[in-house]
Amino acid sequence: MTQTTTARDADRRTAGGRREHALIRVRGATKVYDKGGVPVHALRGVDLDVHEGEFTALAGPSGSGKTTLLNLIGGLDRPTAGTVEVAGRDVAGLDKGEAADFRLAHIGFVFQAYNLVPVLTAYENAEFTLLLRGVAAAERRAAVTALLERVGLGELMDRKPHELSGGQQQRVAVARALATRPRIVLADEPTANLDSEPSTALLELMEELNRELGTTFLFSSHDPVVLDAARRTVRLLDGRVVVAEEGGAAHASAGADRSAAAAGDGAAEDRAPGPGTR
Ligand SMILES: Nc1ncnc2c1ncn2[C@@H]1O[C@H](COP(=O)(O)OP(=O)(O)O)[C@@H](O)[C@H]1O
Ligand SMILES: [Mg+2]
Repeated sequence: MTQTTTARDADRRTAGGRREHALIRVRGATKVYDKGGVPVHALRGVDLDVHEGEFTALAGPSGSGKTTLLNLIGGLDRPTAGTVEVAGRDVAGLDKGEAADFRLAHIGFVFQAYNLVPVLTAYENAEFTLLLRGVAAAERRAAVTALLERVGLGELMDRKPHELSGGQQQRVAVARALATRPRIVLADEPTANLDSEPSTALLELMEELNRELGTTFLFSSHDPVVLDAARRTVRLLDGRVVVAEEGGAAHASAGADRSAAAAGDGAAEDRAPGPGTR
């Protein structure tokens, strides 16, 4: 079967001889949008592996393809060519309903534009995916309250999105994405509208989930707070990956040589010991 073959191809051996399968595996991803008859090449053949437990940033200037790539990985959009495999599933081959189910089961998505439901309160927005998952009321309340307090919105839970600032809405969006304790969090510029203090608090929350639950994080950002916290930075430019060094806690030794080389030109950072050192 195609699926099995693809999964086997994604296996690899690390320097230690351990067999590993990337949790997110993108190969040759190309995305061409049509803008009134004019093709826009958002991605031009992107390869990317993200392993379980990574805490990785996708950097690059506006228009470089960050949002497009996250959308392909989250099954919100399909590549024009290439493959996108997440947790062993060919997400590009899922129809809309299957993709929604897949996200609900595995992925927390923080949208650049928040995408909160305007008629629901902060609390109800953050609770939404837990309701969809059929989580019991008491468990929902405990999880949502704790998360909203954690992101500094404990007093604002009953406000609707239009009664919140951009940064507050962004924090609701993050709480919603984290509420189900997903295996993978894809976050599109999660700190774009935040000052450094709330940005740092959000990053600490994410690092904690990464450390304690092994949640895999892939976030796009230009924010130095985020890039500093990331254990690996993949840089996009004009729809291509320009620097993608192996790094992170799980691959510190395997990637050390290349990381050192990449860091030498100032284009990439690799903080191998992990977020605990911050
Ligand atoms: N729906 C769309 N239709 C047409 N062009 C798009 C669409 N989405 C993105 N693009 C274009 O694709 C390129 C990459 O965009 P994007 O992925 O949003 O980059 P980034 O998130 O890095 O700013 C840009 O040139 C953008 O204008
Ligand atoms: Mg974007």
